[in-house]
Amino acid sequence: MKTPLKNKWVLITGASSGFGAAAARAFGTEGAKLLLGARRVERLKKVAAESLRAGAAAAHAHELDVTKTASVETFVAWARRKMSRQKDLHVLINNAGGAHGQDSVAEGKDADWETMLQTNVLGVLRVTRAALPLMPHDAGASIINIGSVAGHTAYEGGAVYCAAKAGELQITRALRMELNGTGIRIGTVDPGLAETEFSLVRFKGDAERAKNVYDGINALTAEDIAETLVWVASRPPHVNIDELLVKPVDQAAMHKIYRRKS
Ligand SMILES: NC(=O)c1ccc[n+]([C@@H]2O[C@H](COP(=O)([O-])OP(=O)(O)OC[C@H]3O[C@@H](n4cnc5c(N)ncnc54)[C@H](OP(=O)(O)O)[C@@H]3O)[C@@H](O)[C@H]2O)c1
Repeated sequence: MKTPLKNKWVLITGASSGFGAAAARAFGTEGAKLLLGARRVERLKKVAAESLRAGAAAAHAHELDVTKTASVETFVAWARRKMSRQKDLHVLINNAGGAHGQDSVAEGKDADWETMLQTNVLGVLRVTRAALPLMPHDAGASIINIGSVAGHTAYEGGAVYCAAKAGELQITRALRMELNGTGIRIGTVDPGLAETEFSLVRFKGDAERAKNVYDGINALTAEDIAETLVWVASRPPHVNIDELLVKPVDQAAMHKIYRRKS
């Protein structure tokens, strides 16, 4: 039997855009209750309103910077106060993250390296550590981390992003063993090319360069990944989706991309 999501609390990091915002709307459609975090609070509030219109039973937004332990702890304490019972968090989606720059190691910038490791690796650890005490045992609760094909295959200019997402994959695997016996499910959803704000952030606001990444490709959309996250969380409670690679058909492999010419 499917795990129902109606009236279940779902916490999503990085919910102000891309996959996180689409996931908020998709879990909203299922009637879930949402706890949304990111640094851009105005954007978060807009997503919360859209989620309520989609059918969410509740949608709350609060500032969150996953690179700072104090911010994560304040956010999770706020989330705890929103839930009526101590252990009521049904789904945790560790989505906040991204890539910064595409320099070779020889030309890499400390600030980019540090941000990628702080968000994609340490952020996942901090949020998971803080939120785990809120998750019920043997009740079909799920942690879903957002990895990437970059965690499986390296590419030039991607050393640190690939390392970060490979780190996320290994953290997910280690946690699965640590959580064995609790009934809490944990998996990673690892997308390929998806058209969100990802490339705009990676190329520091260079819209032309960001657009070129997806030129001629039928890329994934944020909604494709959001649907996948709902599917993972709603499997029967005894089913764990360990690792899921989701790529556009046009991306057969990291460097094998079919670009349609108009
Ligand atoms: N798009 C792709 O092709 C692709 C493929 C594979 C994996 N991914 C992964 O998917 C996840 C979501 O990315 P996206 O594609 O949806 O890109 P996006 O539209 O840029 O969304 C990234 C989200 O992460 C949040 N975020 C970034 N730094 C944060 C911080 N320090 N604290 C809290 N939130 C933070 C952003 O919110 P604020 O800026 O408001 O804080 C935003 O909501 C990332 O982990 C990314 O690495 C993306």
